[in-house]
Amino acid sequence: MLQKLFRRKNLDEILAEAQNEQGLKKALGAFDLVLLGIGAIIGTGIFATVGTAALGDADRPGAGPAMMISFVITCVACAFTALCYAEFAAMVPISGSAYTYSYATLGEIIAWIIGWDLIIEYAVGNVAVAISWAGYFKQLVEGINIKGYSVKIPLWLCNNYTSIYSLPDPNKDQAAYQTALAFKNQVLSSAPHIGGIPIVFNLPAVFIVVAITAILVVGVKESAKFNALMVITKIIILLFFIIVGAFYVKPANWVPFAPNGIKGVLAGASVIFFAYIGFDAVSTVAEETKNPKRDMPIGIIGSLLICTVFYIVVAAVLTGMIPYQKLAEGAAEPLAIALKYNNLNIAAGIVAFGAVIANTAVLLVFQLGQPRIFFSMGRDGLLPPVFSKIHPKFKTPHVTTILTGVAVAATSAFSSIEAMVDLTNIGTLFAFILVCVGIIILRVKDPNRERPFKAPFGIAVPILGILSCVLLIYYLPITSVIRFIVWLAVGLVVYFLYGAKHSTLNKEKQAHPQK
Ligand code: ALA
Repeated sequence: MLQKLFRRKNLDEILAEAQNEQGLKKALGAFDLVLLGIGAIIGTGIFATVGTAALGDADRPGAGPAMMISFVITCVACAFTALCYAEFAAMVPISGSAYTYSYATLGEIIAWIIGWDLIIEYAVGNVAVAISWAGYFKQLVEGINIKGYSVKIPLWLCNNYTSIYSLPDPNKDQAAYQTALAFKNQVLSSAPHIGGIPIVFNLPAVFIVVAITAILVVGVKESAKFNALMVITKIIILLFFIIVGAFYVKPANWVPFAPNGIKGVLAGASVIFFAYIGFDAVSTVAEETKNPKRDMPIGIIGSLLICTVFYIVVAAVLTGMIPYQKLAEGAAEPLAIALKYNNLNIAAGIVAFGAVIANTAVLLVFQLGQPRIFFSMGRDGLLPPVFSKIHPKFKTPHVTTILTGVAVAATSAFSSIEAMVDLTNIGTLFAFILVCVGIIILRVKDPNRERPFKAPFGIAVPILGILSCVLLIYYLPITSVIRFIVWLAVGLVVYFLYGAKHSTLNKEKQAHPQK
């Protein structure tokens, strides 16, 4: 039984299979990979979660201006894992990423857990990004004023139950409680009722997910040019924020620097981890890379480092131009709030536009990645064959694309961004831990395998990777840890009911028992 659970795919067979298959077109170079990485990385994390990281919320203390340090800590933690991803991606340039690596090193059940877990990184992550997209989209359209006429999205169409019903503790902050209560009543009185139940949901979030799903089903290939355009836009807008904001920085706003000490800094680090997710997605296009052995490490580590520099500077400018406590008035759109605080309303509109573009790029990458993971799992027999169906005309995995789209759209209609960010963070940190463990196992079991890129200092890097991910998980709210454990438990039930019996490895074993 145990043998069955931990059966592994053979690395050499995986590589040979990929070479024999009518392969994907190998068109990407190191520069494309760096752009792809930045495309996946810069989004909700820097445009939205920095508010929670600086301020804290009911579940955690805030970092305050020391959020700059939080960014450095998270970058170091991610760098350890990035080196491990780079080692794997150069050694096994196969599109399944962490799922494939673990199938070859840790065995089937761990591969299943990782595949199931990646749903959290990709699909739940996208729920958070869609909610952030909607927040900035609202800022953008409501900010447009043509001859005194401006669009106003009704409150019941751009809010969610979770946010309006979770009121602050009146014993701690009476004023905040009263404001939230008044807002809740305002939203509810604007809402139509069906059978006495008020209808409140986030229409713009649903809209963007449906639009992207439709595009991906028809199969507009993620063209390198389109991605490059979006990446350049996000970089220009962040530079714009930095340059304009720098004139309004008052060093007094950086005092107190770390209002909640090291705990606040680490809690902040665990929230803004979301901002770094995406460098790992570079590894999913390994099969489409001209020289993966050289370019994968450049793409993964390069995109991580470039984004880190931007993030630290943005954090410094943001906390310098507004007392961090004031971010409470718009936690989901902190960059725009900081500009408005300094009466820079047009600049706030420009940044809102940049955030919409940045979040669209992130949505595209992850909404494209999730069906590919389902597809690989379907092909391996761990999910029903319908998951690996390809549309006869569009040649896209349409079933999994639509399934992902419906699930993400429905969840983003009713969820709050914080809960989704926390869940995504723990899910991704867990996947990172398993990738680091996989590197250690392969170094021990297969020390002579060719490693075109090797993380330096023996197994110190993966060990430090594991420890730093555990540290960040420790600072996430306990509710998200519980939700994550429940999710994994459901996954295990699904595996034993379906995957364990239908795995293609199982069938091969029955056909060739001597193998
Ligand atoms: N890092 C990505 C973002 O912040 C997921 O949107």
